[in-house]
Amino acid sequence: MEIVSYDDGSVKCAANSLYSTAKEIDMASYKLTVNKQERSIDADPDTPLLWVLRDHLDLAGTKYGCGIGQCGACTIHVDGVARRSCLLPVQHVSGEITTIEGLSEKGDHPVQQAWREHDVPQCGYCQAGQMMTAASLLKKNPNPSDTEIRKAMHGNICRCGTYLRINKAVKTASKL
Ligand code: FES
Ligand code: FES
Repeated sequence: MEIVSYDDGSVKCAANSLYSTAKEIDMASYKLTVNKQERSIDADPDTPLLWVLRDHLDLAGTKYGCGIGQCGACTIHVDGVARRSCLLPVQHVSGEITTIEGLSEKGDHPVQQAWREHDVPQCGYCQAGQMMTAASLLKKNPNPSDTEIRKAMHGNICRCGTYLRINKAVKTASKL
């Protein structure tokens, strides 16, 4: 990474084709409701919610996979609806945020119970996102068909290939 200093005191970072000038970054304060708690943070308005959760609020259950909305590892809920937190600039976030840490108080959400019953995870990296997508699906469709489950879970990638167990667990969760 190349750091360039200029006479006017600005500093530019040439990590890639996007140049950011230290002077141009205006930090702002935000109040967020995360897992039913009011949280305050100062951040660059363009900071993705993913990094606010992980770096500012120490909620590291939400994972970074691709950063471009393609893998689902960063899935959280905003007002109960699954969203990709890597694509949500903090300045545009409103509503109640729920992360895997807040899905249930005792780890007994039906999805979490079913995940244990089917021993779903392998490496585990994608699983928080998988469970948040599944919980959002069951909230709007409590009794999904196999096809509806596959369609809803389609955008969550699992490098370990646990898809069969995921689909079975979602079905089981719908019965709990
Ligand atoms: S990290 Fe957000 S979709 Fe991949
Ligand atoms: S369990 Fe390893 S990536 Fe899904």
